Amino acid sequence: MISLGIETSCDETSASLVENGRVILSNVIASSLNLHRKHQGIIPEIASRAHIECISLVVEQALKEAGRKIIDIDLVCVTKGPGLIGSLLVGISFARGLSYALKKPLIGVDHLEAHLYASFLCNRPAMPFMALAKRKAKPLPCRLMALAKRKAKPLPCRLIGLVVSGGHTSLFLVKKGFTFKTLGATVDDAAGEAFDKVAKLLGLGYPGGPAIERTAKGGNPKAVKLSCMGPGGLDFSFSGIKTAVLYKLQAAGRKPRVADMAASFQRAVVEALVEKSFLACQRNKIKTLVIGGGVAANNYLRNRFNQEADLRNIKVYFPAPALSLDNAAMIAGLGYQLYKHGKRSSYYLTPWTS
Ligand code: KG4
Ligand code: ZN
Repeated sequence: MISLGIETSCDETSASLVENGRVILSNVIASSLNLHRKHQGIIPEIASRAHIECISLVVEQALKEAGRKIIDIDLVCVTKGPGLIGSLLVGISFARGLSYALKKPLIGVDHLEAHLYASFLCNRPAMPFMALAKRKAKPLPCRLMALAKRKAKPLPCRLIGLVVSGGHTSLFLVKKGFTFKTLGATVDDAAGEAFDKVAKLLGLGYPGGPAIERTAKGGNPKAVKLSCMGPGGLDFSFSGIKTAVLYKLQAAGRKPRVADMAASFQRAVVEALVEKSFLACQRNKIKTLVIGGGVAANNYLRNRFNQEADLRNIKVYFPAPALSLDNAAMIAGLGYQLYKHGKRSSYYLTPWTS
C-alpha cells in the first residue's frame, strides 16, 4: 500500500511516498527558512504563501522520485495540527482535494505523534547509478523492497515518547494501536524555542539549535551555573533559563565566553529532558524510549540519552538526523498505521479536528 504524506505545519512544505508505512520511497522538503531568517523567527503569513507557491511542485517531485504515478496512491495522509493555522490550511485543502479526486481515504495525522513514528521508518535501498538511469521512473524490484523492510526496526507495543521541537516539548505514553496519552508537557516555552531565543541573545543567528550545538563544542558545559528542572513531575519549563542567560550576560564584571554559555545552556536543557524522560519510563515500568522533533538532531543530546539508557538498561530510539526535522515521511508512515487500525478522516477535515 502506498501512502502519500503532506506536511505543512510550519515553514517546510513536504511530500513523501511511503510503502506499507515503513519504507520511504521519496521525501521531498522545500523550506522557506531563508525568507524568515532576517526576522529571526517564522512569520506565519510568509510561511503560508510559500506553501501555496510550492505544494503542487513538491507533490509532483515526490511522485517522480518514487517512480510512481498519482493513481498509484492508496491513501492520502496530512498533518492536521498542531501548527500555524494558515500553513496547515494549505496542506489540508490540498490533501482534501486530492483524496476526493482520487477517491482514496484521507487521514489527518497529529504532527507530534508523527515525530515519534519517524524512528521506525527506513529508506529504500540505493540503486546503482546505471540501473537507476536505465529504469527511469519505475518502481523498485521486489527483492530490494524486501531487503529494505527487513532493515526497519520492529515496532514496540508500549513506549515512552519525548517530542522535543521548536513548538513543543511533551512526554507521551504510546500504547498498542498508536494511542497516545500525554504524561507531561512544557508549561511555557518549548526546548527548541529556548535554543532559538538564547542563540539570539548570544548573537548566533537563526535557527538557534544548530548554532548553539556548533558553538558549544568549543565551550565548557560546567563553566556557567544554569538549571531548568522546572516544575515537579513530568512537566517542563524553559522560559526561566532564557532570562537567567540574559542576566548572566548583563551582569557587571567577568562575563562568560559565548562558547561556555552555549555549552552550559545546552547541558542544562538536555539534563532536564534526560531526567524527566527516564522518570516517565520508571513510573510506567517501560523499557523503550523514543525521541523525536528538531532538537533530537542534537548530538550532545543523543550521546547523553544513550549513556543514560545504557546505565538503566533502557532501549532508546532516535530517527535518522534528517528525519528529526519536519518531514512528510513521518506523516505518511503514521497515517498508514492509523488507517490499518480503522481510522478515517472526513473530507471536511479542518486543522486540529480528526
Ligand atoms: O521539529 P522541528 O523541525 O519543527 C517544529 O515542529 O518546531 O524543530 C525545529 C526546532 C528549532 O527550534 C531548532 O532550533 C531546533 O529544532 N533544532 C535543534 C537542532 N536542530 C534543530 N536544536 C538543538 N540542536 C540541534 N542540532
Ligand atoms: Zn515538528
